[in-house]
This record gives sequence, C-alpha cells and structure tokens, in this order.
Amino acid sequence: MGIRLLIASLIIVGLAAVGVAKQDELLQWIDPAREPQFTPAQPGQAEQPGTEQAGARSDAAQQDDHGGQNPSAGGAEADDAASPAEPEPPTADEGEVVTVSNVQDVMVVVNKRRELPADYVPPDLVAPDIPFSFSGDAPKKLMRAEAAKALEQLFAAAAAEQIELAGVSGYRSYARQQEIFNWNAQQQGLEEANKTSAIPGQSEHQTGLAMDVSSPSVGYALVEEFGETKEGKWLAEHAPRYGFIIRYPKGKEAITGYSYEPWHLRYVGVKAAQEISEAGLTLEEYLGLAGNEGSKTKG
Ligand code: DAL
Ligand code: ZN
Repeated sequence: MGIRLLIASLIIVGLAAVGVAKQDELLQWIDPAREPQFTPAQPGQAEQPGTEQAGARSDAAQQDDHGGQNPSAGGAEADDAASPAEPEPPTADEGEVVTVSNVQDVMVVVNKRRELPADYVPPDLVAPDIPFSFSGDAPKKLMRAEAAKALEQLFAAAAAEQIELAGVSGYRSYARQQEIFNWNAQQQGLEEANKTSAIPGQSEHQTGLAMDVSSPSVGYALVEEFGETKEGKWLAEHAPRYGFIIRYPKGKEAITGYSYEPWHLRYVGVKAAQEISEAGLTLEEYLGLAGNEGSKTKG
C-alpha cells in the first residue's frame, strides 16, 4: 500500500494537467473499489428519444378530395409511405350503421350510416379517357365502366365549350381511404376531418361511381372556390345531363354529413341525376333516406 501511494502521489503531482478523468482513473487504481465518476452529459449531447417530427413525411402532399392535403406524392399513391402514430377511425355515429347490400347498384347510397364491406372492389373499373391533374397510372384514375363512359362524354361536352376540367381522384380502396382519413384527422383533428373526409367503408370513392374534378383556374385544387369559377358553374349545370350530381351541395350539410364539395361528382344515371338536380335534392332526400337512414352530420 505504501509504495503504491508514493507512486500514485508522484504521478498525480507530475500529471496534474491530465484532467479530472485521468485523476479519477488513478484514484481507482489506488483503490480498486472506487466507482468511476462520470461527467454528466451536456444538454444536446445525449440522444433525445422522440425527436422525430410527429407528422413529418418524406412524400410531398397533394390534394385528394378533402379540402386538406393528403399523403400522395406527385400523383402516385403513397401506400408505401411511413405513417406516424395514427388515430383509430371513430365509429360513424351513435346511430345505427348498416352495411349496404346493393353495392353494384348505381343508386347505392353510401354515407355515414350506410357503409360498404371493407373488401368490396367494384368489378369493372376502367380509366376514363379524360385529362387528369396528375400523370402516370394510379387507381384513383379508375371508375366503373358505365360511369367512366359518361364522364368522357361530360368532359367532351366541356371541352367543346372551352371549359377546361381535369379528373383529380376517382376510385379508392378501403385501405386507401383509411390512409386519407387518418392523414386528414392528423392534420386537422377528427372533428374537421369528419366534415370533409369519409372514414373507410363510408366513402363513395370506394363504389367507383365518384370522381373529384377541378380545373387549372384553381390550380386543380379541391376547394370551395371551384364552385365559383366558370368551370365549376358549368359543371354543376351540365353534369346531370350526363348522369352526375354534385353529391354534397351547399346548405345540405346536415343531410349529407359533409361540407359543400363542388368538385365531387357522383354517377347515378341520367334520369335520377336530372330529377335530383331539378328538384334541388340530395341523393338521400331523393330516395327518402333523409329522415332516419340518411347521413347524420358530426360537424
Ligand atoms: N370527401 C368525401 C366525403 C369522401 O371522403 O368520400
Ligand atoms: Zn370526392
């Protein structure tokens, strides 16, 4: 012990400049039972858990039927995008929700009380030959064959009158709708998301009978202002002749359950579309479902 102490003292005196850590090592050599002392890490040095940005995504956002942004990138579906912690979709409402059975009927009513089976995929999806707001193939170009043909005729009539329209978002799978709803809920909160975006199973886009349409005059955005443009006005006036209705009209939010969407076309066939439009009704009212089986707004 004596010789060790002497050597250690000499080393400590001679190497005083080596710093606290070295001294500590020496002291530990003198007394092996001594615990090493660590200097606390400075703020910012240590790894901070949870520093990822909660909503950060690597893909660019793009509008896709909801007034907000969605997780699509450059027209490509973002199915492979990493999802941050996602809220569970809420139940549609306190009221009863039924699963519709006439899924292939062009008059099928899908809303907050009437939903599609999760595995329903329309049997005859095709891409209408119209301009789209994005390039490349994507499921959101698709519609059921009858609706796609009618949309081509509607777009041809528009083009003949120098009305420039573009398809923005058509068919969506249940899974895709879930991504979109979750994205909107994350960005806007559940209450706002419920006004503009359907929870999976409750979107008409899953029927293949809906197409969101916009124009260059509003940058192909899905915004209420589209209804005030000459293209939006033309669309509202002429769509019924080709079998389409503006499904979520202004002032009918309590019946449809959704905010005004001048861009959301729903195919119901020419006769029904013209009758609905002329009478200023919603699809629910036209079919007598507005009372107890219509969509109940959450907003
Ligand atoms: N924006 C409509 C309601 C949908 O999400 O299907
Ligand atoms: Zn839509």
